[in-house]
Amino acid sequence: MNIILGITGGIAAYKTASLARLLVKQGYSVRVVMTAGACEFITPLTFQALTGNAVHTTLLDEQAEKGMGHIELAKWADKIIVAPASANSIASMCSGSANELLYAVILASKAKLFIAPAMNEVMWANPVVQKNIQELKKMYVDKIQFIGPDAGEQACGDVGYGRMSEPEYIVEFVSRLNEQITVEQILVGKKVMITAGPTQELIDPVRYITNKSSGKMGYALAIAAQKMGAQVILVSGPVNLKCPENIAIINVQSAKQMLQQALANINDCDIFIGCAAVADYACSQVSEHKLKKIDGQSTMTLELIKNPDILASIAQLPNKPFCVGFAAETQNVEQNAKIKLEQKNLDWIVANDVSKSEIGFNSDDNQVTLISKEKTLQFKKMSKQKLAYSILNAVCTDF
Ligand code: PMT
Repeated sequence: MNIILGITGGIAAYKTASLARLLVKQGYSVRVVMTAGACEFITPLTFQALTGNAVHTTLLDEQAEKGMGHIELAKWADKIIVAPASANSIASMCSGSANELLYAVILASKAKLFIAPAMNEVMWANPVVQKNIQELKKMYVDKIQFIGPDAGEQACGDVGYGRMSEPEYIVEFVSRLNEQITVEQILVGKKVMITAGPTQELIDPVRYITNKSSGKMGYALAIAAQKMGAQVILVSGPVNLKCPENIAIINVQSAKQMLQQALANINDCDIFIGCAAVADYACSQVSEHKLKKIDGQSTMTLELIKNPDILASIAQLPNKPFCVGFAAETQNVEQNAKIKLEQKNLDWIVANDVSKSEIGFNSDDNQVTLISKEKTLQFKKMSKQKLAYSILNAVCTDF
């Protein structure tokens, strides 16, 4: 798969170096096209080193025209990503300007176009910029996809929408081209708490009981809720995932800590989603010192005690938020999920068949059934990120 990475003039161009590296790592062939403005922020040499390909900077370059001129580049590309896309580059693309190689390539290419805007928040909110974006969407219809921008602190010190989306998110988005994720801002003004990952229940100072949860499903839900406009609190067990941008994360180890943090922060939350794979039992006694192997004894018995149920505790609160649980099952999936929906006093439950390795624990994809007292919605297999948006969209129709 061939990708042209177009870089325009903006401070976020430094993040595009990571983006180039991640795209190459994913197996894409990457050719970089930089505008004159981009070259003021970061050198072409950086991208040549990262992609292993010569970087294209000028429209009328005799050398380049013999090799990879704008038409050849346009035909070569399967996808074009513009990151960062400055306000000026969006205006140029909108006007059909071809005064820079990048814009000429875009005009001449049939490739899918991904635009990751990055600019000051006031510029982003400016009606002229917004009008240009709407025009581009109208003109290119299915060919164009905007990614971000995200909200947060900006290089200029201002805070608001305008930060370029993180390289990891852009790669994920571009890789999932066929999934058409639609993000509607339906959670603006809402506070959402999500639990994610496994818990670890200590046996002694160096050993614990845990499970295979990677946190991917819970983190995907947190990202989706944040992108849909919610204020998100993520209570996470130990995972190897980067904390998503603009999400308040509370790291915990055990089920007891997860319960304590969930209860301490649940005030004002409108929605609670229990996606964590919480250990049902913990050791009744945690040994102060590392347990020793005992000579002549071939078995060892640990006494376990039931952990508190976090989801059920939240769902019993007098001002309970809208509660969504997950049921990880290996048999009678929907039937067992319905029992948990009732027993834990939930509004929805996500029935998750975890008997198959390509869905459920630690997989990138998932396939679930969403069940409420009135409805059952079956989702086909899709990425956890897309599923997260689908779950939240469905839940919001009832909330
Ligand atoms: O993290 P990944 O690798 O992406 O995998 C995702 C997942 C498989 C972990 C996720 O999709 C999932 O199914 N999470 C729920 C796992 C689980 O513990 O299911 P359960 O059926 O045992 O629990 C039912 C519900 O009660 C869950 O919402 C759970 O968070 C909650 N619970 C359970 C026990 C407990 N002591 N406290 C709880 O809150």
